[in-house]
Amino acid sequence: MKIHHIGYLVRKMEKAAVAFEALGYVPEGSAVRDEGRGADILFLEKDGYRIELISPYTPESVVAGLVKLYKNAPYHICYTADDFAKDAAWLEANGYTRMGEPQAAPAIRGRRVVFFMHSSLGMIELLEDI
Ligand code: NI
Repeated sequence: MKIHHIGYLVRKMEKAAVAFEALGYVPEGSAVRDEGRGADILFLEKDGYRIELISPYTPESVVAGLVKLYKNAPYHICYTADDFAKDAAWLEANGYTRMGEPQAAPAIRGRRVVFFMHSSLGMIELLEDI
C-alpha cells in the first residue's frame, strides 16, 4: 500500500485553500461536493505530497463532529490498495476496525474508499486502485 494523501480537516474551504496556496501548494482541479459525506473536498500537491482538504458544509456531515473537536488539523492518511479486497481483509485481521461499507469517492473519480480505525494508530483510509 502506498500513501495517496493526508486528509486534512478545515473549517472554511476557501480560506484554507488560499492559505495552503500561499505556502506553495497547487490545487488539483477545484473543490468537489461529496454529498455522501456532507463535505467539500479539494486536493492540493506540494513537493510530491498530496493533501486532501475536507470541509463539512452541513451539520449532518460525517466529519462535522471531528471538525468541532480538531478545528483545522490532519486526521487520516490514505493508502492506495494493491488489492482492495485483500488489503481490507488484511487490515481487519490486524487490529483495524472497518468503519462502514466501501463508498465511491466523487472527488477521486468514483474510486471506492473505506475507513478503518486502529486503537494505537487512529484512522486510515484505503483507496481502490483502478
Ligand atoms: Ni482521504
